[in-house]
Amino acid sequence: MPTQSPATWSAIILAAGEGTRMKSDRPKVLHEIAGRALVSWVVQTALVAGAARCLVVVGHGRGDVEKELVTRFGKRVEMVLQPDQRGTGDAVRCAMEADHTPEGRLVILYGDCPLIPVALLHDLVGRSDRAGAELALVTATLTDPSGYGRIVRNSAGDVQRIVEDRDCSEEERVIQEVNPGLYAVRADFLRASIAQLTPDNAQGQLYLTDVVELAANRGKLVDLRGDMADLTGVNDQRDLALAAATRRRRMAEELARSGVGVADLDTLYIDAACEVEPGATLGANVHLRGRCVIRAGAHIDVGCVLTNVVIEQDAKILPYTVATDSTIGEGAQVGPFSHLRPQTQLGPRSKVGNFSETKKTTVGEGSKVNHLSYVGDGIIGEGVNIGAGTIFCNYDGEQKHTTVLEDGVFVGSNTQLIAPVTVKKGAYVASGTTVTRDVPENALALSRSKQENKEGYALRLRARLRPKKKP
Ligand code: UD1
Ligand code: CA
Repeated sequence: MPTQSPATWSAIILAAGEGTRMKSDRPKVLHEIAGRALVSWVVQTALVAGAARCLVVVGHGRGDVEKELVTRFGKRVEMVLQPDQRGTGDAVRCAMEADHTPEGRLVILYGDCPLIPVALLHDLVGRSDRAGAELALVTATLTDPSGYGRIVRNSAGDVQRIVEDRDCSEEERVIQEVNPGLYAVRADFLRASIAQLTPDNAQGQLYLTDVVELAANRGKLVDLRGDMADLTGVNDQRDLALAAATRRRRMAEELARSGVGVADLDTLYIDAACEVEPGATLGANVHLRGRCVIRAGAHIDVGCVLTNVVIEQDAKILPYTVATDSTIGEGAQVGPFSHLRPQTQLGPRSKVGNFSETKKTTVGEGSKVNHLSYVGDGIIGEGVNIGAGTIFCNYDGEQKHTTVLEDGVFVGSNTQLIAPVTVKKGAYVASGTTVTRDVPENALALSRSKQENKEGYALRLRARLRPKKKP
């Protein structure tokens, strides 16, 4: 259910950290789930939730992080630099000291928490406004709380402070209520309390979490419970895989609920920018990457890997097809085991079958490339039949050339077409032919040496080749 965005608020998203635990050269917040960077999931959530402004604190790998955000969100995000990564408190300080810092209600989010639901942001801001709180935070319970900051409550049950994993005493370490890292805070309070932070902790950093104790001391703190399934932070590759699995499962459920047939909710790998219309069906272990569009009535069978592919209505993609940057026309059929490389355009009701490869080729309505063929740099008209084992020899070692097969052409099996070459309307190419010159309309092209049958020769040959028995 869409929830109502509360009164104006702005988001600050922390994304300057290096993420050493990922053991990767890529800045942590640029690791992807469902084809979208962690930080972009967070920014997207903030924008959808209605953030008036969205500031992202960048530092480590800044160029790449900024590029990702500008490409995806343009002017809707503002960057703030944190020159040295001295902790989450220091990151927020940078945001609060920048020009034109936002005032009023702020929501602080970590760029490594990609699953937060929009409704939870609304709850958080709403609760904090109604309570007139200076700071509102979400808490959640985990059986294994290690790695997370622990929520310390007093005997009355009120939140008192947060203690980081590395700073926990023995008693604190077993606390299962943790800080997922989601806060609504008043800008004036935040500015004043950030100034009081000190780095006297195990990591020698400025902890944003220390602000919680300052709000608690003033009795201006509220907390609400969240579900950790929505709130996991990504610190290492395992966390990333788990968060991706959760996101994947949710997207699969959403599609199924919308009327898409999903054979297996746990093995549909679909990137966030893909679109699948109700009435399409998706087999187990299907990967839809980049920006795919799958129209109603289309069926993608088990094991297909499609990247930036448009599949029109009622097309069937049979098992284990790999296709990239291609369009597949209405009612067309591809696979099993076909490979469509970039710029393949299959017309309505056309067919590309077993072990055929296509590249930069248009295939007209009803035409067939059914078995074991390579068609590259081709223009294939309507109603063309291409026999098994046909090769478009498109590359001369220096340049690529085009093969044109006009409407109604029939190409026999085991044929090579040496491009550039055109086979005109209705022509017939005999099996085993090497086509080196254009074929006129309705002609037969044939290039084979004449067959000779030598009677009884096989018997003589065998006798000659058979090993002599030792006496
Ligand atoms: C933080 C919280 C912890 C909480 C956990 C939830 C603090 C001190 N601790 O710990 O209580 O349970 O998140 O996931 O806040 N960042 C910067 N600049 C820095 C350091 C970090 O921008 O100098 C950014 C990182 O890019 C990251 C986010 O802040 O997106 C969180 O940093 P991280 O180091 O992952 O904090 P945790 O140790 O997970
Ligand atoms: Ca983290």
